Amino acid sequence: MREKTYITTPIYYVNDVPHIGHAYTTIIADTMARFARLRGQDTFFMTGTDEHGQKIEQAAQQRDKTPQAYADEISAKFRKLWDEFEISYDHFIRTTDAEHKLTVQNAFEKMQANGDIYKGEYEGFYCVSCETFFTQTQLVNEECCPDCGRKTSIVKEESYFFALSKYQDALLKWYEQNEQCIMPKGKKNEVISFVKSGLKDLSITRTSFDWGIKLPASANDAKHVMYVWLDALLNYLTTLGYTRDEKNMSYWQNTTHIVGKDILRFHAIYWPAFLMSLGLSLPKHVAAHGWWTRDGEKMSKSKGNVVDPREVANAYGLENFRYFLLREVPFGQDGDFSQKALIERINSELGNGLGNLLSRIVGMSSKYSEFKINSENTVKFYQNELDEAKNYLKNAVENLENFATNRYLEELWKVVFLANASIAKYEPWAMIKAGETDKANALVALCANLLAKVAILLSPAMPKTCTKIANALGFEISTTNYEKIVQNDEILDFITQPTEPLFPRIESELMAKVSQPQAQEKQDQKTSDDETISIDDFAKIVIKVGTVLECEKIEGSDKLLKFIIDLGEEKPRQILSGIAKYYDPTTLIGQQICVLANLKPRTMMKKYVSEGMILSASDGSLTLLGTHAKVANGAVVG
Ligand code: MSP
Repeated sequence: MREKTYITTPIYYVNDVPHIGHAYTTIIADTMARFARLRGQDTFFMTGTDEHGQKIEQAAQQRDKTPQAYADEISAKFRKLWDEFEISYDHFIRTTDAEHKLTVQNAFEKMQANGDIYKGEYEGFYCVSCETFFTQTQLVNEECCPDCGRKTSIVKEESYFFALSKYQDALLKWYEQNEQCIMPKGKKNEVISFVKSGLKDLSITRTSFDWGIKLPASANDAKHVMYVWLDALLNYLTTLGYTRDEKNMSYWQNTTHIVGKDILRFHAIYWPAFLMSLGLSLPKHVAAHGWWTRDGEKMSKSKGNVVDPREVANAYGLENFRYFLLREVPFGQDGDFSQKALIERINSELGNGLGNLLSRIVGMSSKYSEFKINSENTVKFYQNELDEAKNYLKNAVENLENFATNRYLEELWKVVFLANASIAKYEPWAMIKAGETDKANALVALCANLLAKVAILLSPAMPKTCTKIANALGFEISTTNYEKIVQNDEILDFITQPTEPLFPRIESELMAKVSQPQAQEKQDQKTSDDETISIDDFAKIVIKVGTVLECEKIEGSDKLLKFIIDLGEEKPRQILSGIAKYYDPTTLIGQQICVLANLKPRTMMKKYVSEGMILSASDGSLTLLGTHAKVANGAVVG
C-alpha cells in the first residue's frame, strides 16, 4: 500500500485579491505535494477560500454586494490564479459549500456531546481584521490589536465557549513528544511559551452579525453563528468527507498544514485542541513560513506596493518566480521581494548555472558523439564526483522534507556547480585533442547524469523547466526514475536534442516599480483600512488634464507605453505608463486624459524619464480617466 499524504494551504479570506503572500504559501504547498507524488506517495492536496465572518460581511457591505455574491467573485479570482499557476490541487474548498456547513454542524454536536462546549457571555475585545478575540491586557496602545495594530472593538454578547483550557496539558505533551509537529523550531518555542502562560476558554459563536454557519438544529439557538476560525479550520476535515461519506479520511493520518506565521496560533493551539475534542489524530506537521516585504517596505494597499503574483509571473516567468520565492528566504524567516534580487537569481543561478549546464552538455554531445551520451566509463573515471553529488542530493531531500526550501535548492545547485566546475577542471576539449575520447565522453556523461538527478529533484519546484531538461536529455521525470536515478544511483545513457536557452538573460527591470493600485485595493483603502487623508493632504496632489500628442510602445517592454502629453506647460511632458496590454497606442493620440502632475520624475528602463503618472480606473481591466467635455490643457482636477 502506498503511503498516504495530505497537504493543505490555509483557505484564503475573500476580502482581498491574491497577493505574493498567498502565492508563497500556495507554491510551498504545491512543491511539497509534487515532491510527495514524485516519491510515489498517494497524495491529496487542497486549497480554497474562507468566506464567512464579520470581515467578509463588512467588505461586502462596503461594496453594496451580498456577502455571497462578493465571496463568489473573489473566490473565483483565487481559483483562476491557481489554475493559471497550474497549482496541482485535488480539491478547492469554499466554506460556503453545503457539505462544509454539514461538517461544521456535525463537529459542533460532537464537541458538545464530549462536554467541551458550554454557553456563557463573552466580554472583551475583537479585531475584525484578524478575526481574533483579545483581553484588555493583550492590546497595544490600550485599544489596538497586538497582531495587526488596527483598532479593536468592544464585544459583549451571548456566546458558546469551547473548553480550550482543558487541553492545555495535552497540548504541551503533544509539542514535547512530537519534535516536528510545529516547524520551524523557533516558532514552536513561541507556541509553547504562549500555551504555558495559560489558555482561556474560547468563544466559538457570535450573535452580533449574521454571515456564518448557524448552529445545528439540535442546539435550537437560531441567533448564533459559528466563530469564523472554528468554521475555517474544520475545512481541512470537510475536504476529506469527515462525518459525511468519510471517503478520503484515510489521508488524515499523515497531514501537513502549511501556514503563515500570523496564523500559527490558530493551527498550533486551537486546531489540535478541537481535534482532540473530536477524538481525531493530530497533524504530523504544522509548518509556518515568514512574511514578504517589497523593496524593504511592508506591503500595504494604501502604499500601492502590494506585489501582484500574476504581474511577476507574466513579467519574469512563473517558474523563475517560484524558484525565487523558494530560494530567497530560509523557511520561517521574513523575505524581501525586489526585482533586482529576482533578476540576479534568474541571470546567475538559473541562467549561468542551470541553463548553461544543459547547453554545454547538449553542445558537447553534438560535437563529440552525434548527440549520443554513453556512460559506460563514467564510474571508472569520475567516482569521486558521483560520490560528492550523492551527498548533496541526499541533503537536498532532507532539507525539503524539513520545509527548508532554500537549502534544498542550495544543495541542488552544489551539484549544478560541481558539474560546471568539472567541465572547467578537466577540459574535455583538451582531452579530445589529446585523443582521450573515452575520458571526455565519460565526463559529458557524468554531467548529463548529474543534471538528470538535479532535474528530477528540482521538478517539484520547477515542473515545466525540468520537463524541458528531461526532453533535451531524452529521459522522463517519473517516480520510477526518481527511484532508479536518485535513490539507487543508476547511471543512464542519453540521446540529447538541441533546445532553446532555458533562461534568457534579463537586462533590466520588467515591471513598473510599484504596480498601479487596483480598483479593488483603492476601494478597500477608502473603506476598510481607515487611513483617511485630510483636505490638506489632498491639496498636495496636482491632477491636470492634458492632450496626448504622441504615444508609442517601448522596445523591450510589453507593458509600457511612452506618452508625450501637452499639459498646457511650456514644454510637453514625457510619461511612461504600464498600460500597453489595454490600449493600442495609436488610438490614444489626440485624446484628453488626466495626469498626476506633481509626481517626482523617475527614470524607467534605465533611460526614459517619466514626468508624472497617467490616471486610470481599474476593475480587472483598465480605462484611462478623461473629462466629460473638452477642457483647456493644464486644467486642474480638484
Ligand atoms: N482565512 C485565514 C486562514 C484560515 S485557514 C483555516 C487567513 N487568510 S489570509 O488570506 O489572510 O492569509 C492566508 C495566508 O497568506 C496566510 O498563511 C498568511 O500568512 C499569508 N500571507 C498574507 N500576507 C502575507 C505576506 N505579506 N507574506 C507572506 N505571507 C502572508 O489567514
